[in-house]
Amino acid sequence: MKTIRAFIAITLPQSIQHQLAEIRDTLQKEMEETTVRWVNPANIHLTLKFLGEIPEKDVTNIILKLSGEIRLHPEFQLNIQGIGAFPSVQQPRVIWAGLQEADALMRLQRSIESKMKELGYDTEERPFSAHVTIGRVKQHVTHQQIVNCGIVVARQDIGGLDGFIVESVELYRSELTRGAPIYTRLHTYRLKPRF
Ligand code: 2AM
Repeated sequence: MKTIRAFIAITLPQSIQHQLAEIRDTLQKEMEETTVRWVNPANIHLTLKFLGEIPEKDVTNIILKLSGEIRLHPEFQLNIQGIGAFPSVQQPRVIWAGLQEADALMRLQRSIESKMKELGYDTEERPFSAHVTIGRVKQHVTHQQIVNCGIVVARQDIGGLDGFIVESVELYRSELTRGAPIYTRLHTYRLKPRF
């Protein structure tokens, strides 16, 4: 059976991608260059549901079933709120920008989760944490690099980024390569327009 790796996400507008690239530049200047593998700003997205490997033949059904669900959700505003690290700034592995967990976002995420459950997909056990990954700490770094990276992240005040309106959600295919993963948009689900 042919499978593809897929996930459902909100794509960030270019203006926000640029602002995140500036934040990345500021962080990068304060740490050793070899510490973090930064995500290409064009690839930064907010994952709502990671599907993993799915049968390719399921894609049409997922597009169809989720379309009806997602278009019931009105467009809404999202704001980026600060940066942090998983699992913690003391032991940073993933560097992220957090998103305000607006009710509309949480409703949309829950509704996608439950529709996917109806389609036979496992529900994510970890609670949803609205974030966009901007960088990942590399494998072979020194303890000092990790500590410094956490300090840089913890003291960063990113100020206010522009908010943006979420108008759509995308189904992506992800192909893992030796370098950056390649994300291909398989479908765009429109939310309910405000006007
Ligand atoms: P991350 O940004 O926190 O790494 C594509 O891999 C997207 O799916 C990424 O945004 C990634 O989130 C997310 N994702 C969620 N769970 C995942 C998992 N178990 N393996 C890989 N990616 C996952």
